[in-house]
Amino acid sequence: MKLIETKAQKLIDTAKAMVADKKGLLAMDESYPTCNKRFAKLGIPETAELRREYREMIVTTAGLNQSISGAILFDETIRQHLKDGRSFIKVLTDNQIIPGIKVDEGTVVMAGHPREKITEGLDNLRERLIEYAQMGLRFAKWRAVITIGDGIPTQASIEANAHALARYAVLCQEEGIVPIVEPEVLMDGDHTMERCFEVTEQVLHTVFNQLYAQGVILEGMILKPNMIVPGLTCKKQESDNEVADATIKCLLRTVPAAVPGIAFLSGGQSSESASARLNAMNVRFKSKLPWEVSFSFGRAIQQPALNIWHGKEANVLEAQKALYHRAACNLAARRGEYNDKMEKEY
Ligand code: G3H
Repeated sequence: MKLIETKAQKLIDTAKAMVADKKGLLAMDESYPTCNKRFAKLGIPETAELRREYREMIVTTAGLNQSISGAILFDETIRQHLKDGRSFIKVLTDNQIIPGIKVDEGTVVMAGHPREKITEGLDNLRERLIEYAQMGLRFAKWRAVITIGDGIPTQASIEANAHALARYAVLCQEEGIVPIVEPEVLMDGDHTMERCFEVTEQVLHTVFNQLYAQGVILEGMILKPNMIVPGLTCKKQESDNEVADATIKCLLRTVPAAVPGIAFLSGGQSSESASARLNAMNVRFKSKLPWEVSFSFGRAIQQPALNIWHGKEANVLEAQKALYHRAACNLAARRGEYNDKMEKEY
């Protein structure tokens, strides 16, 4: 009994630390295909060494820990080293940034549902988590993808993805690793904000039913949802305040108060929109919410820095300035203190 309590307490402490002090998470866990795609767009060679150099640029950004409480890494990165020989896990830990790891193995077309995706990676997950815990990784991430379209998502895809998320989450907690549960409703398409609300509400209800059924400790996890936004090509694009109100309304209906934190994905929003919408939530609902409302952005923090870095050593300092700036904007958004002047001053 004591051992179980100690394990649960460790999970709870880590989850709280991941959203403490109004900081947030940095997602730098792009898989080979995703990272290569982003490099290819800029003409950066798609090599293991350049992925390493890029990620070294990120983790050596001075002052990153002022805004970032945890960083999500990819399996390749945790086996690489900085030029000075230190591992990425050590550098982050030494800087009081909690290291985490993406453990899903990406999405494939779901059998019987050709327009929908299912996430793979449950096979051997227990063994992989044991190794990750021994290496010092304290939290994990699994991303499920839900697509909105004509006649989709189906109940079958929502249930299968929610079940996999819950199986992953309980396996993580068994190893003392905090699961980030990420059911992403994609922004692709011309659907309205109302449709995004409806689908996200259904998805989150299903996910929390599954988490409950599998016995996941809600106090020892973080939810990483999408914001409630219209599709990228929808004619009507709501204001930041409208997005903030719809998002909080949806989460209040679906996310138990026991969950310590919600850390949004950016999902293809511009860096500025992601910060402005997060800020609007924290301004409009300050101290009225049961959970911390935070960020776990990938593109919305990294993209400007990647554009500057461009694969060149000479651009490292400028790229780090851009990365630091985006992290600082999101720290301000967590406090409800972000405004577009911050963008102009930079
Ligand atoms: O799983 C997705 C990433 O962790 C977040 O990336 O902010 O670019 O959507 P994003």
